[in-house]
Amino acid sequence: MVDVDAFVDDAIEEIAAEIGDADAVIALSGGVDSSTAAALAYEAVGDQLTPVYVDTGLMRKGETEGIRETFAYVDSLRIVEAQDRFLDALEGVTDPEEKRHAIGEQFIREFETVAREVSADYLVQGTIYPDRIESEGTIKSHHNVGGLPEVVDFEGIVEPMRDLYKDEVREVARELGLEEVISERMPFPGPGLAVRIIGEVTAEKLAVAREANHVVEEELADYDPWQALAAVIGKATGVKGDNRVHGWVVAVRSVESRDGMTARAQEIDWQTLQRIQSRITGENDNVSRVLYDVTHKPPATIEYE
Ligand code: XMP
Repeated sequence: MVDVDAFVDDAIEEIAAEIGDADAVIALSGGVDSSTAAALAYEAVGDQLTPVYVDTGLMRKGETEGIRETFAYVDSLRIVEAQDRFLDALEGVTDPEEKRHAIGEQFIREFETVAREVSADYLVQGTIYPDRIESEGTIKSHHNVGGLPEVVDFEGIVEPMRDLYKDEVREVARELGLEEVISERMPFPGPGLAVRIIGEVTAEKLAVAREANHVVEEELADYDPWQALAAVIGKATGVKGDNRVHGWVVAVRSVESRDGMTARAQEIDWQTLQRIQSRITGENDNVSRVLYDVTHKPPATIEYE
C-alpha cells in the first residue's frame, strides 16, 4: 500500500499544479472512486471544480438524494435529469456490448452539454488501476475509461488515482474524511443496473432491479461482500394468489474479491436467502422466482452483462 498521507498531499499538489487557474469538471457516480477523486480535486482547486452527476435512471435506489447530501458543501454541483433519454437510447438494444456503448454515448452527450456550459478546460476522472487494465485487455469496455476525453475537447485529463487499487482508494477516502457510507461502499458499475438486466432495458425491469438490489445490499451487509447484487435474468411461471403469472426471475449474487479481477461466490445461510427471496417476491408483484448464483469468477463475471 502507498503511504496514504503522502499520497493525498502529492495528489492535491499535482492536481493544483495541473489545473492552475482553469476550471474543471468531474463526473460523479456516487461510488467511492469518483467521490474520492472529487474530494481530492476540491481540496486542490475548490470552486473551480464543477462536479456533475448524471441521473441515468440506471442508478441504485436513493442515489440522487445521497449525492445531494454528500456533496451539499459543493455549491457548484450539477444534477442532470436524463432518465428518459437513457431509456430511449436503450430501446430495443439487447446485445451486451451495444448496450454498454449506447449508455457510454448518451453519457458523453449529457456530460458534453454541461462541460460546454461551464467551459471547463480540465476533466478529473476517478479511474483506478484495474479499470485501465480491463479496458486495455478489452475484457469489456468500461464506460468510465473510454470515450469522454475524445469527444469533449479538454485541455487535460487529470486522473489522480490511476495507479491505485480499490482498497487503496478506500484508505484515501477515509483519510479525506469521507463518510463511511461512501468509503466502504461496494463497487457499482458505470453502466449501472443495465448490466444487471439481461436483454432489453425497460422501465419495468429497471424498477424490479432497483428494488431487488436494494434488498440484497441491505440483507447481505453483514457478510461484508466485495459486491452483492441482483439481476433480472428472464421470465418464468409462478403462482401469485390464485393466479399463475409469467413473472421475472431475479438472480442474487454475492462475491468476495480483492480487486474484482477474480471473485468467489459467498456461502450464505438458508434463512438469509429465504428472507431475500420473500422480500423480493413480496415487494414485487411481477417477480416469480429468486435464484442464488454459486459461480466464481472465472468462469462467470461478477456482473451479468
Ligand atoms: P466483471 O463483471 O467484469 O466486473 O467481473 C468486475 C468489476 O468491475 C465492475 N464493472 C464496471 N465498473 N464500469 C465500471 O466502472 C463498467 O463498465 C463496469 N463493468 C463492470 C463490476 O461491478 C466489478 O466490480
